[in-house]
Amino acid sequence: MTTKTQSDKLSKLHAHSQQVIMDNQQPAGGYLACPTMPDYHYSWFRDGAFIAYALTLDGIDNMVPHSAGISGQWDSADKFHRWCAAIINGRADALERTISRMEQGQDLVVADTLNARYEDGGNAGPDSWPEFQLDGPSLWVWSLAKYVDVCRITPLPIAWVKAITLVARYLSAVWQQPCYDCWEERGDDVHISTLAAIYAGLGAAHQLVPTLDVEPTREAIRTFIMEKGLTPNGELAKSVGLDMVDANLLMAALPDDGLLAPDDPLMQRTVARIERDLLAKGHGVHRHVEDTYYGGGAWILLGLWLAWYKTQVGDIAAAKELLSWAESHADSEGNLPEQTKDAMLDPSYYQEWVEERGEIANPLLWTHAEYLIVLHLLQAHARQ
Ligand code: BGC
Repeated sequence: MTTKTQSDKLSKLHAHSQQVIMDNQQPAGGYLACPTMPDYHYSWFRDGAFIAYALTLDGIDNMVPHSAGISGQWDSADKFHRWCAAIINGRADALERTISRMEQGQDLVVADTLNARYEDGGNAGPDSWPEFQLDGPSLWVWSLAKYVDVCRITPLPIAWVKAITLVARYLSAVWQQPCYDCWEERGDDVHISTLAAIYAGLGAAHQLVPTLDVEPTREAIRTFIMEKGLTPNGELAKSVGLDMVDANLLMAALPDDGLLAPDDPLMQRTVARIERDLLAKGHGVHRHVEDTYYGGGAWILLGLWLAWYKTQVGDIAAAKELLSWAESHADSEGNLPEQTKDAMLDPSYYQEWVEERGEIANPLLWTHAEYLIVLHLLQAHARQ
């Protein structure tokens, strides 16, 4: 049973999470990944997709009134989706060049792809960054489909149809290309979590624009993963050819038409290895065993992502335990960081990252978003 103090804390963190996200939405619609870290003063498709997804769900149960008389959360998500569509449509010529290069069997030109992060005004972040990441735009379409479904938006704005169609064609053209993963690492590899995100994104694109024929590509991705994307023990692999898992493989069981059902034996084996290799008891989940970013701490958002998965397989006790761990890592103002330094894999790397980027990102909007998602799922479960 929840005590009064626990429930006060819960609702305070809940309200603070909404606040942190709303306060850091930029005028045109992008969300700063983290307001206190200069390198994170951009909006990522990936972070924003999870944030908008969280607001879409949170707006169902806990409407924050907005001046226009609608849910503040939905208004914010709507603004983000419009912003993404504008960025994507603004890159149409470049993306068309990429699609036609792929059709002609030519090499990829990174300058003609979507960047991982953008300034609110639409400029891509500096080139020094690992720009080419395919999970972000895929997750954007997945998040948009949820928003459209929950808010029953029909017909879709023309700019959205255009952007969804363009992204679906772009992803179908480039999915086999090596790219940086969602941690912005290993740019020469093909990552299974990225493929799972593309798979989900293409499914969402079809849901939104039924004339899009995405099934052949989805089938090809599934076959590719089953043939090349497993470890010798039969788990999903971090990347093709690696006998390693990565916590980002939780992406494969994203609800709503993901690659694998949460209770699929392949998913269960993968999660079992994630728990064996990467769970830092009491703190969260490491990204992967070789992580040295800020010493390779345990990530709060990954603990919450695992909690999300646990709600999908009906292990509510585990989900609640993971949620409490996350809550216990909030600072005195209620800010949730990216990761904790309590459980570093290799502390000798910590200081050099502090010198390069400053302290660990805190608050991280994506962590607050994962928190809202898990709260929503637990509330929905309690109502059943
Ligand atoms: C993470 C990315 C994230 C970005 C902004 C990076 O350190 O690896 O996953 O999108 O921060 O939050």
